[in-house]
Amino acid sequence: MIRINENYLKLQASYLFSEIRRRTDEFQEANPDKDIIKLGIGDVTRPLPQACIEAFHRAVDEMADDATFRGYGPEQGYEFLREAIARVDFQDRGADVSPNEVFVSDGAKCDTGNIQEIFATDINIAIPDPVYPVDLDTNVMAGRTASFSDGRYGDITYLESTRENGFIPDLPGENVDLIYLCFPNNPTGATITESQLQAWVDFARENKALILYDAAYESFIQDPNLPKSIFEIEGAREVAIEFRSFSKTAGFTGTRCAYTVVPKSCMAYADKGGAHSVHDLWFRRQSTKFNAVSYPVQRAAEAIFSEEGRAQAMALIDYYLKNAKLIRKEIEALGYECVGGENSPYIWIDGKTDSWKFFDLLLEKAGVVSTPGAGFGKCGEGYIRISAFNNYENVQLAMQRIRQALS
Ligand code: MLT
Repeated sequence: MIRINENYLKLQASYLFSEIRRRTDEFQEANPDKDIIKLGIGDVTRPLPQACIEAFHRAVDEMADDATFRGYGPEQGYEFLREAIARVDFQDRGADVSPNEVFVSDGAKCDTGNIQEIFATDINIAIPDPVYPVDLDTNVMAGRTASFSDGRYGDITYLESTRENGFIPDLPGENVDLIYLCFPNNPTGATITESQLQAWVDFARENKALILYDAAYESFIQDPNLPKSIFEIEGAREVAIEFRSFSKTAGFTGTRCAYTVVPKSCMAYADKGGAHSVHDLWFRRQSTKFNAVSYPVQRAAEAIFSEEGRAQAMALIDYYLKNAKLIRKEIEALGYECVGGENSPYIWIDGKTDSWKFFDLLLEKAGVVSTPGAGFGKCGEGYIRISAFNNYENVQLAMQRIRQALS
């Protein structure tokens, strides 16, 4: 008899963003004339930078020619892209990362979801609340948690991010082995300072723990004093892995390209003793289960690191940050407390009421899709997240409609 992985039965009925899509579609079907503005899932709306488009076209042409055609690429990604990443995103900022520590992939969602499988199932994990649901759900699937009750899974150390701690979780009071952190934070938009991040790195070193650092939104950081990478922090190379994505940096949500940095000095331990290279384990996993990102996509991603590509990608970030600024200003003017939107494309709003009720109200009265904070965890209850990813005109219209709906 074929049997299921019963850990899946512990999961909530559907993935957060699928549930939002379902509710939105249902509402649209019932109200076909209603114009809906989507500020829910962080999905970009602006086209790829011109430099990426040109590189993409050139690479497709190469695939059409016997002399330049390419079959399977290296599992870890092409050297040309890994070299550009290591140099521009890390070495130029004083962070010690080499090209052979970079793993190119088709998305940070896949990498953050898959990485847990190289670690033991009975380790103690620390997960922020609120959190990007992939971090939690993939550990539920793997059997690292007990069942769900009263808004929480058992056997997890939740790292609460609340107004009281400025949305930066305190260090755990107990021993944990795997720690998930994300800054600029999804969903709250909060950012972490160098000294706060140093405290996490020191904690991980003292406890032989590992930090999974999701920096998918680093390109939104405007404040020059904030760290963009955990590898700017002393000692991090021993205890941290970092996830980055071109999705929000350069409009690649539909094109798919991201990368993960696994330092060669990063170790994890076996029951019977002995330190093992996390880099080697991840390489083994990727070379077994993943066959690299397509050549044209990697060439398109490489173009982000050219002078013109960087300027064009920066213009995209500025565009979305202008949206974010407007959203935060308008929502605050309505008397709601907000976090984020300054170094992040997300604005985290204290809705002063049940998250899903607030979501329904914005959808029904304003025709605006948001994301209910409760979908990110118990500490998100009462909040909603508004994303800055849309056209400026739509954001203006959404704010006008929200003003009318709430006043
Ligand atoms: C989000 O809206 O939180 C993200 O866009 C989801 C994702 O990147 O998978």
